[in-house]
Amino acid sequence: MQLRNWLPAALVVLLVSRGRVSALDLDIEDEASIKNAARKMAFQMMSEYHGDEPGQVPGLILESWWEGGAMFMTLIQYWYWTGDTTYNDIVREGMLHQQGQNDFFPSIYGHFLGNDDQMFWGLAAMTAAELNFPEEEDQPSWVSLAQGVFNTQVPRWDETACGGGMRWQIWPFEAGYTMKNAISNGGLFQLAARLARYTNNDTYFQWAEKIWDWSATTPLLKSDDWTIADSTSAAYMYNTTNGGQKWKAGIDGLLATTGKVFFAKGVMSEIWCEQTMTCDRNEDMFKGFLSSWLTSTAIIAPYTASEIIPRIQRSALGTAQQCLDGQSCGCRWHQEEWDGSATMQSDMSALSVFSSAMAIFRADAKPLTIATGAISKSNPAAGSKEDALPFKTHPVRTGDRVGAAFATVLFVVLWMVGFIWLLDPRECIRSCFAAESDAIV
Ligand SMILES: *[C@@H]1O[C@H](CO)[C@@H](O)[C@H](O)[C@H]1NC(C)=O
Ligand SMILES: *[C@@H]1O[C@H](CO)[C@@H](O)[C@H](O)[C@H]1NC(C)=O
Repeated sequence: MQLRNWLPAALVVLLVSRGRVSALDLDIEDEASIKNAARKMAFQMMSEYHGDEPGQVPGLILESWWEGGAMFMTLIQYWYWTGDTTYNDIVREGMLHQQGQNDFFPSIYGHFLGNDDQMFWGLAAMTAAELNFPEEEDQPSWVSLAQGVFNTQVPRWDETACGGGMRWQIWPFEAGYTMKNAISNGGLFQLAARLARYTNNDTYFQWAEKIWDWSATTPLLKSDDWTIADSTSAAYMYNTTNGGQKWKAGIDGLLATTGKVFFAKGVMSEIWCEQTMTCDRNEDMFKGFLSSWLTSTAIIAPYTASEIIPRIQRSALGTAQQCLDGQSCGCRWHQEEWDGSATMQSDMSALSVFSSAMAIFRADAKPLTIATGAISKSNPAAGSKEDALPFKTHPVRTGDRVGAAFATVLFVVLWMVGFIWLLDPRECIRSCFAAESDAIV
């Protein structure tokens, strides 16, 4: 064997004997090392984004419009935690291009969007406002875009079934219209809670409480064993009410469930699909949201930090094992060897958990409010009312309902079960079906 053939083989043995094959290097105690890992992941993720190239549509990710909102939210957090401004112009351009009539409901896509799709953009704008992400002159402020989403969604609150709630889909012809699900209600709840904290306007507070209370009367939010779709927004209400007991109970319960179910392996895992390696592009992103929202919880409800931060750190270390240096990441953060998968969406989750691991170096970090130095200007009237009320104009006949319900069941099985991701899968199936049958009564 010639030397040049032998050398790579020896190197592999050497690396394998260290237990890892060129995983991304990460020292969780070292700020520069975390920033470096995050920078590589941001680069890797953005190599799949083309909206900034000539002839392309800024902010658009093909076949998954909402993913753009999720990606920009992740990049805003990345900028905040690391100070790297590389992608700021791309973020601003993409978000402003997709703003629709100041409400992230662009008319060319509006006919197939669900409430949750629009919500992710709203949450991205809210994040930009809270973190003082630079704004563009002569363009709507970040917080006003979030208010635009709130203003278009609130009139969709539907009391014709189940005594309230947001439907998943906006249009009766979409599969999923008959379902009131956790992501849509949890999304508006979170946005309302954050707007309440940011603006100190009681209207948002009342809406947040109304959505929470309604959800608690349904299987979507079960306060006996604390299964729910979203783990962190109770923290904003806790902070806004200066430690209100109702919200503390919510945080405690949800955090316990999250720990038990999603950190059973010590490291964050998407239990629904990782074991079978069947996660879809949505599910690949969910660990990223959980990372950043848990980190927000640790900041605005500081008593949770000692529980949350070590979990984030362990998860970041686990992730590094799944990210081969300079390449896309796998999804099984708990496993030492690379799991063989590589998606842009897993890179987004990896980026998010690396960014979150920066929190320990930033004692001053916190989502801002108008009262504590946020510069994004409130506009309670933002958004177009015309986008708000589609379902009132289309009476639904029974035949449509049955058809939609049938399609929705497929959705539940194929996709939705994963999307309602903080629920234990067994719970999820039960509550989706329960919500489904309630909704079509
Ligand atoms: C609310 O959040 C701030 C950080 O933004 C924190 O300093 C404060 O302690 C929080 N309030 C409560 C009641 O934990
Ligand atoms: C509070 O928000 C509501 C709902 O958007 C709005 O109608 C009202 O004008 C706001 N109040 C203030 C003081 O900004």
